[in-house]
Amino acid sequence: MQRDSWGSRIGFVLAAAGSAIGLGTVWRLPYVAGEQGGGLFFFIFIILLMTVGTSLLLAEFVLGRSTKEGAIEAYRKIAPKGQWHLIGIIGMVASFLLLSFYSVVGGWITTYFVRSFTGNVTNPPDGDHAALFEQITSNPWEVGIAHLAFMIMTILVVQMGIKKGIEKASIYMMPALFVIFLILMVRSLTLDGAYEGVVYFLQPDFSALTGDTFLFALGQAFFSLSLGVSVMVTYSSYLDKNASLPSSAWSVVLLSVLIAIMAGLAIFPALYAFDMPPDQGPMLIFSVIPAVFGQLAFGEVFFFLFMLLMLFATLTSAFSLIEIIVTPLIRGKEYLRKRMTWIVGLLIFAMGIPSNLSYSLLSDTYFFGMIFFDAVDYLVSNILLPLGALLISLFVAYKMKKPDLREELLRGSKLGDRFFSIWLLMIRFITPFCIIVVFFYLIFG
Ligand code: PHE
Repeated sequence: MQRDSWGSRIGFVLAAAGSAIGLGTVWRLPYVAGEQGGGLFFFIFIILLMTVGTSLLLAEFVLGRSTKEGAIEAYRKIAPKGQWHLIGIIGMVASFLLLSFYSVVGGWITTYFVRSFTGNVTNPPDGDHAALFEQITSNPWEVGIAHLAFMIMTILVVQMGIKKGIEKASIYMMPALFVIFLILMVRSLTLDGAYEGVVYFLQPDFSALTGDTFLFALGQAFFSLSLGVSVMVTYSSYLDKNASLPSSAWSVVLLSVLIAIMAGLAIFPALYAFDMPPDQGPMLIFSVIPAVFGQLAFGEVFFFLFMLLMLFATLTSAFSLIEIIVTPLIRGKEYLRKRMTWIVGLLIFAMGIPSNLSYSLLSDTYFFGMIFFDAVDYLVSNILLPLGALLISLFVAYKMKKPDLREELLRGSKLGDRFFSIWLLMIRFITPFCIIVVFFYLIFG
């Protein structure tokens, strides 16, 4: 049986953009920007995404496409001696843990989505949206079932394979996500008082600039492009030999930037129009936004659309997080895919249970001073992800041969040696340097 592959380059780009655009872009980015003073943070984030982020994305693409192997074998093929394949194992472990709590939030979104049919999320009986969120997350049965439902939706798609599963779902979900964002953005921008929100979002406030802003933005840029865990190595390993990697990478980055801007323009103007605070942290989506929709005509409909969008964004990222684990386990034996996807998916669900219970039964149990959910998030986002990103960048820069890199990077592309030299400079020195700085900051800062 042949190794699966993407049906088209556009399918690959949409699936990779689907992995990139997720909770990081539509949930975390707006609330972190809200806390970090808006415009300036966004601006720095976008610059970093287009420079350091894009270089590393290309490094993952080059490694994956040239070896045509998943997380473990890709490293082995380039460097058979030594323990380099541990980079892939770090990626698999990180993805396993990441999806374990990512899917919990996926579950909350699923619950809100289902509840948006029955009303009462945008207008809770006692008018308190934050209390409603607490009431929902503290009921282990409701969120537990929603969590399982979210994982099953993910498994059902990934078990169908690259072309028939992930690509097909992405081809529907990504354009839908775009259209829904467009509708929400227009609605938000045409509200009375929206302008202030636009100013907040787009006007850089230099007085808010600190070292933190920069480092946060860099960490966010890597997370937003799904870098450091070999997801992009895996996805590109299924890509046709002749598709241009630089233009695919640009498409993914530009789509991410576009959606990030649309998310900002959908959220902040609406907040300002209704005098809601932009700096409410993680609660932004589950309590502030429902409150905003509660005041809009047809708010229920808009809220339903918003949750559908969140669901699509989260699912398309979840596909990639299972796929990176399934690919090395099946090694091209597609007949094993179904069974492996179910096993991996259900194990991830089981691993996520304590994260889910962090908001109910385990809310008083602390690990390193954090609830379980936050402890796993910390381990993945602040340690495993930057570590993986650093190692991948060094591996591609120093373990792969220069002529091979050049050939793989430029094949099918109109770009020439100048581009190659700049990219090499980025992944040899600038990207590793930036990651080291962030790394130390995240752990010791
Ligand atoms: N990029 C995803 C997001 O922004 C998260 C992610 C990270 C997905 C790493 C896969 C791998 O939500």
